[in-house]
Amino acid sequence: MPNDIRVLLLGGTGRTGGRVLARLLERGVEVRAIVRSARRLEPGTANDTRLTAVEADPLSLPRDELLELVRGCDAVVSCLGHNTDLGGIFGPPRDLVARMTRRACGAVAVLRPAEPVKFVLMSSVSVNRPDRLDTRRGAIERAAVALLRGLVPPAKDNQDAADFLCSEIGQADRFVRWVAVRPDTLVEGDGSGYALHEGLVSSLARPDKTSMANVARFMCELVTDPRAWDEWAGRMPVIVDAAVSV
Ligand SMILES: NC(=O)c1ccc[n+]([C@@H]2O[C@H](COP(=O)([O-])OP(=O)(O)OC[C@H]3O[C@@H](n4cnc5c(N)ncnc54)[C@H](OP(=O)(O)O)[C@@H]3O)[C@@H](O)[C@H]2O)c1
Repeated sequence: MPNDIRVLLLGGTGRTGGRVLARLLERGVEVRAIVRSARRLEPGTANDTRLTAVEADPLSLPRDELLELVRGCDAVVSCLGHNTDLGGIFGPPRDLVARMTRRACGAVAVLRPAEPVKFVLMSSVSVNRPDRLDTRRGAIERAAVALLRGLVPPAKDNQDAADFLCSEIGQADRFVRWVAVRPDTLVEGDGSGYALHEGLVSSLARPDKTSMANVARFMCELVTDPRAWDEWAGRMPVIVDAAVSV
């Protein structure tokens, strides 16, 4: 079990982020979590001695404080997402995920770590890979997704965050390496097994299911298993539930 890995977790009070937090702690990882309210942490994790929870709005956390939280971390994991009420979907901050991705990567760049820091982003199958690499998505579906982005701010936010990683961090950054994990429709369930794909496998009209437990498990693998990291770094894997464990 890794006992010398340190992670900054964003969105650790969320449905998937809470599961990521539990899995990381189970694996002996030291976690720093920026949360708006520590009361929203699962009771089983809130008192874990390996967890440091900082109560703050991550977007307005002063830069120096963010730097101190990022300093010494091997990875930053973001499970941020807009709350699903009207205010969360259409109100500010419309750029929650993208802006926090920029902030966290910017903090890493300021710190100039000797080894690149891993940035693991929870993304979505609604997010396209650049250069039309998702060949499964034809013109009609691309138009539907573009419309979705125009109408629903979180969809644009998720695309902007991934675009930032692909285009501005890219593949050769000295300080940040990244993976954007793309689940399909999130469901409950024990996450007994999952399949990973380079690109999209289902259409938006006939979506697959991805249990949050599986997303959490894979995000933790990326942080703790160098082979998983080497396989997926700089890529945007699609994760869906599978009958057979991987
Ligand atoms: N729903 C799906 O089927 C689906 C499929 C694929 C991908 N995704 C993506 O997966 C990601 C995570 O989904 P989820 O359902 O696990 O998320 P979730 O349960 O809604 O959790 C969202 C997290 O973001 C935080 N957050 C929300 N608004 C914030 C704000 N203004 N400032 C700071 N923190 C804020 C929440 O904090 P609080 O606890 O304080 O509210 C919570 O920790 C999202 O980006 C979503 O788009 C969703």
